[in-house]
Amino acid sequence: MSILITGGAGYIGSHTLVELANANYDFIVYDNLSNSSSESLNRVEKIIGKSITFINGDIRDTAKLKEVFGNHSIDSVIHFAGLKAVGQSVEQPLEYYDNNVVGTLRLLEVMSEFGCKKIVFSSSATVYTDPDKLNIQHSKLNIKEYSPLREDSPVGGTTNPYGTSKYMIERILEDLYISDNSFKIAILRYFNPVGAHKSGTIGEDPNGIPNNLMPFISQVAVGKREYLSVFGSDYDTHDGTGVRDYIHVVDLAYGHVKAIDYLNNHENIKPLVVNLGTGTGYSVIDVVKAFEKASGKKVPYKLVDRRAGDIAKCFADPSYAKELLGWVAKRSLDEMCEDSWRWQSNNPDGYEVK
Ligand code: NAD
Ligand code: UD1
Repeated sequence: MSILITGGAGYIGSHTLVELANANYDFIVYDNLSNSSSESLNRVEKIIGKSITFINGDIRDTAKLKEVFGNHSIDSVIHFAGLKAVGQSVEQPLEYYDNNVVGTLRLLEVMSEFGCKKIVFSSSATVYTDPDKLNIQHSKLNIKEYSPLREDSPVGGTTNPYGTSKYMIERILEDLYISDNSFKIAILRYFNPVGAHKSGTIGEDPNGIPNNLMPFISQVAVGKREYLSVFGSDYDTHDGTGVRDYIHVVDLAYGHVKAIDYLNNHENIKPLVVNLGTGTGYSVIDVVKAFEKASGKKVPYKLVDRRAGDIAKCFADPSYAKELLGWVAKRSLDEMCEDSWRWQSNNPDGYEVK
C-alpha cells in the first residue's frame, strides 16, 4: 500500500518524503511542478537511496487521478498541492480558489470513488482569525492574549484568498466527514516552516523575490540581495519587530509521519485539527542575529514601515500535538539558520531548473 503525496516535489513535500522513507512508508508523488522542480525528487532519491515513483499531474485532472488510483494501491493521501503566495492570491483570487479548493474537491471525489479514505491536509496558522477582526467581532477578548493560538481559537476571519482557500478546505473536509464517518482526516495547521535537510541538498527554492523572511535573509547573506527590509519596528513585542513561530521543516515533516501513524492506528475518529509549531516566538531581529551567527555573514537591514496585513505576534500552543500524536518540534532557531544557510550557500540559485 502506498501514500499518494500531492505536491511532493515542493518544499515541505520533499522533506516529508525523506521522513516517510525513514519510517518505511511507501509513497507515490503527484505534482504538476507549477512551483517546483523534479530535481528535488532526484535529490531526495539520493538521500533515501531509493527511486521514487513520480507522476506529473494536476489535482484538477480527474481522469489522470483516476488512472493513478486505478493503477496503484493507494490507501492514504498527504495533500500538499496548492498555491501559497499571499500577495499573488489577492491579485489572482479565481486561480487560487480553482487550484486549491476545486483541486481538493476533485481529489476528494476520486478518493471517495476508489474507497481511499485517509487524508492529511496542509493547512496553515493563517486560518486563525486576524486579531484586528477579532477585536471587532469579539470585543471582550483581549488581543494581547491572541497568541499562543490553540486549535479552538477563532478561525475564518481570513484576510486574503490564500488563507480563505485553506479555511474553505478545512470546512469541506469537516462536512465530508459528517456525510461519511469512515473518512479519517488530519488537518495540520503549520506555523512558519524554515530550514532545510541536513545534507544541504534540498530546501526552499522560491520564485523571484522571496516574500518570506528566512529565504530573504538567506539571499542577503549569500550576496544576492543588498539588505533586508524589516517590516515594522513599533510593534508591541520585545524589540518592536514582528514575532513568529519558526519551525524547522524536518520537524514539520516528521509531524506528517506521526499524523499518518495516528490515522492508521485509530478507528472511528473525528477529523483531527492540530497545530504544528514550536510554541516559541522569535522576532525578525532575533532571526537576523541567529542567521549571522550561523552563517558568519553580516545581514544588513533597514527598518521600514509595517507590511499591510501583518500582525505583531503569531505563535502556537503546540500542546495538543504532543498529547495526541506524541510529536514535539526539537530543532532550535540556531539549527534552522545553520541548515537554511547550508542549503542556500551550496545552492545559491536553488534547483536552477524549473
Ligand atoms: P511549494 O509550493 O513548495 O509546494 C507545493 C507543491 O504543490 C509544488 O510542488 C507545486 O508544484 C504543487 N502544486 C501546486 N498546485 C498543484 C496542482 N494543481 N496539482 C498538482 N500539484 C500542484 O509549497 P510548500 O511550502 O511546500 O507548501 C506545501 C503546502 O503547505 C501548501 O499547501 C501550502 O499552502 C501549505 N503551507 C505552507 C506554508 C509555508 O510557509 N511554506 C505554511 C502553511 C501551509
Ligand atoms: C506568511 C504568510 C502566511 C503564511 C506564513 C507561513 C503573508 C502576509 N503571510 O506569514 O499566510 O501562512 O507566511 O509561512 O505573507 N518580514 C520582514 N521582512 C521581509 C519579510 C518578512 O521584516 O522581507 C517580517 C514580517 O513582517 C513578519 C516576519 O518577518 O513579522 C515573518 O514574515 P513571513 O516569513 O512573510 O511570514 P508571516 O508574515 O508569518
